[in-house]
Amino acid sequence: MATHYSRSCLQYLFHLAHDHLDFRLPEIKALLSLRGKPFHPGEHFKEKSPFWLLDGLSEEDVHNIMGRSVCAKSAFELWGHGKTQSELKMSLLQYPTEDMTPFLQKSSTYKINVYTFNKTLEFQDRIKKIDALEHLPFQGSVSLKNPQQIFCLLEDYGTDPNNIPEEPFHIYFGRWIADGQRELIRSHSVKNRHFIGNTSMDAGLSFIMANHAKVKEHDLVYDPFVGTGSLLVACSQFGAYVCGTDIDYNTIHGIGKASRKNQKWRGPDENIRANLRQYGTERLYVDVLVSDAAKSVWRHALLFDAIITDPPYGIRESTRRTGSQKDSSKPSEDFFGESHVPVSMAYHLSDIFTDLLNFAVHHLVLGGRLVYWLPIYRPEYCEEMVPLHPCLQLTSNCEQTLSSHTSRRLITMEKIKEPEEADVLAHLFDPRYSPYQGHNAFRDKYFSGVTKKTTKDDKRADNGK
Ligand SMILES: C[S@@+](CC[C@H](N)C(=O)[O-])C[C@H]1O[C@@H](n2cnc3c(N)ncnc32)[C@H](O)[C@@H]1O
Repeated sequence: MATHYSRSCLQYLFHLAHDHLDFRLPEIKALLSLRGKPFHPGEHFKEKSPFWLLDGLSEEDVHNIMGRSVCAKSAFELWGHGKTQSELKMSLLQYPTEDMTPFLQKSSTYKINVYTFNKTLEFQDRIKKIDALEHLPFQGSVSLKNPQQIFCLLEDYGTDPNNIPEEPFHIYFGRWIADGQRELIRSHSVKNRHFIGNTSMDAGLSFIMANHAKVKEHDLVYDPFVGTGSLLVACSQFGAYVCGTDIDYNTIHGIGKASRKNQKWRGPDENIRANLRQYGTERLYVDVLVSDAAKSVWRHALLFDAIITDPPYGIRESTRRTGSQKDSSKPSEDFFGESHVPVSMAYHLSDIFTDLLNFAVHHLVLGGRLVYWLPIYRPEYCEEMVPLHPCLQLTSNCEQTLSSHTSRRLITMEKIKEPEEADVLAHLFDPRYSPYQGHNAFRDKYFSGVTKKTTKDDKRADNGK
């Protein structure tokens, strides 16, 4: 039910899902910025907590953010909070009655939910907690099935499952406003997707990437390592027109060996277009092409609103680029002893990222975002390894751990200026922008860690010491 009277200084409580912790703040910040709103955390803001108080928002902002967020579970208009039941009561008593009464009318129906984080309560204990709210001037009747208003008491028992306190650390009470889009993770699961491959990106992370990229309706989004198009699926869900390229002919044409168990060959309509059709966004499919990311096929005038991609790391897919005889320092001998023209050559990770940043600088609109994954060998990682460009501002850098020694980092960059000759030269020659060559050994480090018994040094590194 929409409300149209103005109420000042409202605070909203966001209840965040307790996974992908690193990705939540950049997601919420990106969604706020899509509405032109800064991020104003309320008191006691802790990034790792599942409960965030946010200031300076309207109910419309909250609806909008919840209409996109896959990191947030729900949002509430905060009526009161405190460390104890009595602090909560005091806080609720201070909330202006005129701000409460429109939602507590005799003619309306309501229900109160109790949500506890890091603790399970017995049914009777939940009822007791609801009864303790009798000081609130509820006038309407309770409807558990179809209430007009939903209220929620949320209790925070901390984040340590091995040390759950008797009493909560903090209690909140508020009016439910909206749920986030966690359902998209289930509805778009790759398990039930028409066309998948060995490296299809998980649905939740694809939506997070689209949010970090600030993808919006009518945008044009491009994925230069498109694979089976999981990132295009997510971006089209948010109303963007999508296109991509991949070096692999079979993937682009949806032919060849299937990735599913019990299926030898891909079926007649297993392709990216069919994936978009499956989710009702085929009208936003522009096209996909066979093309090598190392050799851009696009005219400089073509601009994308976002570039969002998962480049190959060489673990489950090869990192190859097209080459010619002149690229090869040592021409190989063919069967007849004559020099052979190699059709493909190694595409080093450091070159992949240099090319990707260069491409983004020339093909993003000003303010457009590049979002991509950077594989990392954790014992060696430091921030200097993240590739930079004078025309791109690093917006966020979030880690997803893959194993004790490897992870991938979701890098988000925003184009802040059009490239001039000096920027192109700086990117090539200024040591601040010179690519970190250690990325190139990622494959070896990945497999050495998988097969090798962990050494004392690795253990020390894994413990972050
Ligand atoms: C990690 S996969 C991308 C998976 C994709 N996000 C999906 O959901 O299916 C990387 C892709 O890059 C492609 N690739 C490898 N080298 C390439 C190159 N030089 N140019 C373009 N694509 C390349 C591979 O064929 C592979 O499909």
